[in-house]
Amino acid sequence: MEGAVVTGVREMTVGVLGGTGAQGRGLAIRWAHAGLKVVIGSRKAERAQQAAAEIAETSGGRVRGLDNAGCAAAADLVVVGLPWDAHAETLQALREPLAGKIVVDCVNPLGFDKKGPYALEVPEGSAAQQAEALLADVPVPGSAQWPRLSAAPIVNVHVVYDRPVLREPFAAVLDSPLQWLFDRTGPSGLARGQYLAISLSAAQQYVEQRTTDLRALFLPALREVLPAAREARVRDFFVTREPRATFAQT
Ligand SMILES: NC(=O)c1ccc[n+]([C@@H]2O[C@H](COP(=O)([O-])OP(=O)(O)OC[C@H]3O[C@@H](n4cnc5c(N)ncnc54)[C@H](OP(=O)(O)O)[C@@H]3O)[C@@H](O)[C@H]2O)c1
Repeated sequence: MEGAVVTGVREMTVGVLGGTGAQGRGLAIRWAHAGLKVVIGSRKAERAQQAAAEIAETSGGRVRGLDNAGCAAAADLVVVGLPWDAHAETLQALREPLAGKIVVDCVNPLGFDKKGPYALEVPEGSAAQQAEALLADVPVPGSAQWPRLSAAPIVNVHVVYDRPVLREPFAAVLDSPLQWLFDRTGPSGLARGQYLAISLSAAQQYVEQRTTDLRALFLPALREVLPAAREARVRDFFVTREPRATFAQT
């Protein structure tokens, strides 16, 4: 599961509205450098393209520039990097392309006078709450069909061995009930031995099985593919079940 999540984030396209400004550029350079695809947004596509070329050169990453509407449409995750004055009006105009997107707002509601910046009262509470209020009820394309989706379970089988049995951080196993294996030793803080998690998607056939039955199925399956597991002692074995973990297309 962890592998899948990390892969998902790495494949995301991040868009920055007002990405030609100091804040947007600074963030974009770091994300592009880290390997994410980045789209710079601007009121003017040419300005965005110019900024994108500069950011690509500095970061060595994949960056392109579009107008703000194109940026919102192209990105999976959209960061709002606009001045407060432009916040409500710009988001209102982008409700449609932002529908269903993850929106991260880094706008500070600030006014400026001759003494410098000062905090402004925001009726909704904050810039992010204003964005939420403006964007919350936008119908996501196709969302009327969502009630027709059904749920699918994910079951995780956890096995703690007294010694290392898997050298790779994760492995996909074919022709076996194991599906995916993940080494959870590091994240769990285990000092000795190895903690493996078997992640079972579309696990309808396992979700209601008793732990003892799953143990009888999965320990031999592990011994079959991991020679070191044949000698190892199982120090702990437990199962977590998420009956409605994700959607199914049926
Ligand atoms: N700079 C920082 O260190 C920092 C740190 C934390 C948070 N923030 C917050 O991040 C936000 C952006 O900061 P920034 O310093 O990057 O701001 P900025 O340079 O003043 O503005 C960012 C971009 O917004 C666009 N913009 C300007 N006026 C606009 C308008 N009236 N309508 C639509 N778009 C407009 C401009 O892009 P185009 O002309 O290309 O459209 C501009 O390059 C602010 O809310 C700030 O409070 C900034």
